Amino acid sequence: MDLHEKVVLVTGGAHRVGKAIALAFAGAGAHVVIHYGSSEDAAHATAREIKSLGVQALVVQADLADPAAIADLFEAVRDRFGRLDVLVNSAANFIKQPFDEVTLDAWKDAMQVNLRAPFFCTQHAARLMRATPRPADQPAAIINIGDLAGVHPWRDFVQHGVAKAGLLHLTKISARELGPDVRVNAIVPGAILPPASIAPDSERWQAMGESVPLRRTGHPRYVAQTAIFLAQNDYITGAIIPVDGGEHLIGIGTH
Ligand SMILES: NC(=O)c1ccc[n+]([C@@H]2O[C@H](COP(=O)([O-])OP(=O)(O)OC[C@H]3O[C@@H](n4cnc5c(N)ncnc54)[C@H](OP(=O)(O)O)[C@@H]3O)[C@@H](O)[C@H]2O)c1
Repeated sequence: MDLHEKVVLVTGGAHRVGKAIALAFAGAGAHVVIHYGSSEDAAHATAREIKSLGVQALVVQADLADPAAIADLFEAVRDRFGRLDVLVNSAANFIKQPFDEVTLDAWKDAMQVNLRAPFFCTQHAARLMRATPRPADQPAAIINIGDLAGVHPWRDFVQHGVAKAGLLHLTKISARELGPDVRVNAIVPGAILPPASIAPDSERWQAMGESVPLRRTGHPRYVAQTAIFLAQNDYITGAIIPVDGGEHLIGIGTH
C-alpha cells in the first residue's frame, strides 16, 4: 500500500511507542487519527507535530474498556475522513501482579483493554475498510502490538500475558477471516521503553538490554519502522514479527 493520503488510526497514539508509530505514518504521507485515553495534552502535542509534516491529524478520546466508546471512535473517523486504511492497535495496560493477588477487576482490566478492545476495534475497522473501494492487490491493514509476555510465561503477569497471548491468536484468526480485503499482522516488541516503574537510566533497564542477543534495549523507531513495513507490504498476513533484539530466543522477561 502506498501510504500517501491514506488514513491511519493509532490507538494509544499520544505518546511513547504509539506516538512514534503515528509520526512514522505521517512521515510516509498518511493522515493520522490519534486515539488517547487520558493523555489529552500529549495527544494534541503529537497532532501538532503530525500537522507540521503537511498531513491531517484528528485527535479522539475513548476509554477502550467501553465498547460503546470504541464504536464512537470509529464513527468519528468515518465522519471526518469517510475511510480507514490502517489500524494500529497499540494501546494497552501493563499490570504486574502476583498470581495469587489477581482480582476479578484486575483480570477484567487486562482483558477489556488488551484483548477485547483490539477485537472490537478490528471489527469496526474492517467494516470501514471494506466500505472503501481499493485495488484488489492493495488490502487495508491492521497491526496489533503484542508483548513477549504473551509468548513466554513471565511470572507476575498472568492477566497481561494471557490477554497478549490472546491478541496474537486474534491476529491469526482475523487474518483468515478478513482476507482478501484486510491483512492482519502483529509486532511483538521487547524492551523498547521502560514502564514507569523502571527508570530509563537504571542499572536494571541497562541489564535487561545486555541480557538479549543484541546486547541493548531498543527504541520506538524500530517498532514504527516495522509497522510501516507491514502496512506497505501487500502480501503479508497473519505474521507475528518480534522486534526485541532477539529476546524471544531466550524468553527472559525480567520486568
Ligand atoms: N514499551 C515497551 O518496551 C513495550 C514492550 C513490549 C510491548 N509493548 C507494547 O507496545 C504497545 C505500546 O507500548 P507503550 O509502552 O508505549 O504503552 P503505554 O505507554 O504503557 O500505553 C499505551 C497507551 O495505552 C493507552 N491506554 C491504556 N488503557 C487505556 C484505556 N482503558 N482506554 C484508552 N487508552 C488506554 C494509554 O493512553 P493514555 O495515556 O491516553 O491514557 C497509553 O498511552 C503496548 O501494546 C505494549 O503492550 C511495549
